[in-house]
Amino acid sequence: MDFADSQYFRSGNSQYRSLDAYWHPVAYGSEVRESPVQVTLLDRQLVLGRINERLVALDDRCAHRGAALSSGKIVDDCFECPFHGWRFDSQGNCAHAPGSNASKSVLSKSRILNYPVVESAGLIWVCLEQVPQYALPKFPEYSEAGYRTRPGIAFEWETSVSRCVENLIDISTFSSDNDSRGETVKDELRWVETWWEKSTLCFESPLLENGRIFRMLEAVGVAGASRSALTDTYRVGIPGTVHRRRMIGDGEKCYVLFFAASPITTTRTRCFWSYSRNFSESEEYDSLFLEGVLNDLASRRSIVESQFPKIVPICGGERQRESLVCSYDTPIHHYRNALLESSRLHLRSREDWSDCS
Ligand code: FES
Repeated sequence: MDFADSQYFRSGNSQYRSLDAYWHPVAYGSEVRESPVQVTLLDRQLVLGRINERLVALDDRCAHRGAALSSGKIVDDCFECPFHGWRFDSQGNCAHAPGSNASKSVLSKSRILNYPVVESAGLIWVCLEQVPQYALPKFPEYSEAGYRTRPGIAFEWETSVSRCVENLIDISTFSSDNDSRGETVKDELRWVETWWEKSTLCFESPLLENGRIFRMLEAVGVAGASRSALTDTYRVGIPGTVHRRRMIGDGEKCYVLFFAASPITTTRTRCFWSYSRNFSESEEYDSLFLEGVLNDLASRRSIVESQFPKIVPICGGERQRESLVCSYDTPIHHYRNALLESSRLHLRSREDWSDCS
């Protein structure tokens, strides 16, 4: 049996569960301060907090009787449950159980799962397994001198992470002027060069004539933008990040969109994003760039949410029902192959797939 044809694999379950092994963004760093915060990742409620300035992520479920720790507060370096006051330290161990005569050894069994958590590029990232499969995605411009970086307003879409990512790397829609049906533009896209940098899918694409982008660049003082060549370089982190660097002319000026999708459930995704640029540094231009991205994304929301199935088909007959035959589908084809490989690896590490090819 080819395990890619198994019902479990075809249903998208393996693709979804393999996400446990990756880093995922769950909040902007600025959203987690002195109080506990609840987030949902892959159908699991987690509580985030800063204890002694260290980030902590635990299951948001008190080991006593299940109340949400995120409704409580942080006391003496512990999450304190709002119901009966039990406290849990940064490892998830019960440190205090008021009114309990239970011995220490009994209380030591009252543990809450804790998860790897880090802060990077302005975001808080959590992995649901103790050893993440890949390193965190890179966003070097976030802290690079000469770049002005601003976070965008996070938004949620009723679809999977994979559909959100494919929307962003669909270079045909990003190359047309707010018109995803621009056949003339698509016909001009004859080449897409792809390569891998470890687990990151990379590709380059020329940005074709796009009135909206050139108008925006001229508005922020990039003289002669409409006569300059624009080239986009994409770096796609499996499963849910996209780093798009857009170079103007000879590459001295560039601006970067960093997009990071977080799977709340199989079919609901929270999208974080930030914008960096090394020109037109005045604050007055920030909203122009931020609104430009938001409008661009929002204009395609209903189309992306309408795509069926919600999780991209990566194998078997379902995959054949989508025809990735255009030159601009090349990155999506490679992205799906990487998702398939990731699901295989995950499944192999958990099951006896000795009869798999
Ligand atoms: S449910 Fe949390 S202390 Fe009782």
